[in-house]
Amino acid sequence: MNRILLTVENLSKHYTLRKGLLSPKNVIKAVDHISFEVYEGETLGLIGESGCGKTTTGELILRLNRSDTGKICFLGQDITVIQEKEMRELRKDMQIIFQQSQETLDPKATIGELIAAPLRLHAIVSKNEIAGEVVRLLNLVGLRSKDQYKHTYQLSGGQKQRVGIARAIASRPRFVVCDEPVSALDISVQGQILNLLMDLKKELGLTYLFISHDLKVVQHICDRIAVMYRGQIVEMGETMELIDNPKHGYTKKLFQDIV
Ligand SMILES: Nc1ncnc2c1ncn2[C@@H]1O[C@H](COP(=O)(O)OP(=O)(O)O)[C@@H](O)[C@H]1O
Ligand SMILES: [Mg+2]
Repeated sequence: MNRILLTVENLSKHYTLRKGLLSPKNVIKAVDHISFEVYEGETLGLIGESGCGKTTTGELILRLNRSDTGKICFLGQDITVIQEKEMRELRKDMQIIFQQSQETLDPKATIGELIAAPLRLHAIVSKNEIAGEVVRLLNLVGLRSKDQYKHTYQLSGGQKQRVGIARAIASRPRFVVCDEPVSALDISVQGQILNLLMDLKKELGLTYLFISHDLKVVQHICDRIAVMYRGQIVEMGETMELIDNPKHGYTKKLFQDIV
């Protein structure tokens, strides 16, 4: 087994909602004391129905959202306690691909500018190398060099997701959270983007936390799967083992449709 890249221990995030001053508190346990490890080089699937806490988990791991309890150790550092300055340095290594990449892409910017932004932010290459690096990244994600002059509205859904992927890998990360990266795409395009993600993983030596509600997607690409239900991880194991022999009632229900 490879070495551990990320350890999550007893991680929680609860939200307290109160409609009016006198109405009772409503506590949503978005993430409720979860623990797991991610091994270097693997694709770990995090699956479960909508609202079970997958996105919150991904955001907590990247510190885009702050946890209530727990430790998140990445490359030996607990990122829940380190300073923002150290976190900025680590962000190069930990990136995210969103479901709706277009929502994170400024419509006024060209594709070239969008991909150059993380290169500048993290000073990945020198100023005079940025243009070349943008072209290299475009080609790496299956876009053409001349696409750099386009705007997002001129791209298809799949092409926009390729831009989102290029931005995520621009800082040369080791670990990428893929948060439902194909869920918003047409079925015909989903396979192409999944293939791209798997090719990049191999080529760049990436490790993925692959979030999805769609078992048909994760069963082919994940080495292991963690099943999340109402904020908790109820079962975790090697993909084929889990599919062949699910133990938890919720996992059984989830797998009924695909076996
Ligand atoms: N900022 C927030 N304030 C209140 N509740 C939230 C917030 N973010 C997420 N939630 C709730 O936490 C739960 C988990 O959400 P999420 O992590 O987005 O689930 P998933 O990605 O699995 O669909 C849901 O019930 C959601 O409504
Ligand atoms: Mg989500």
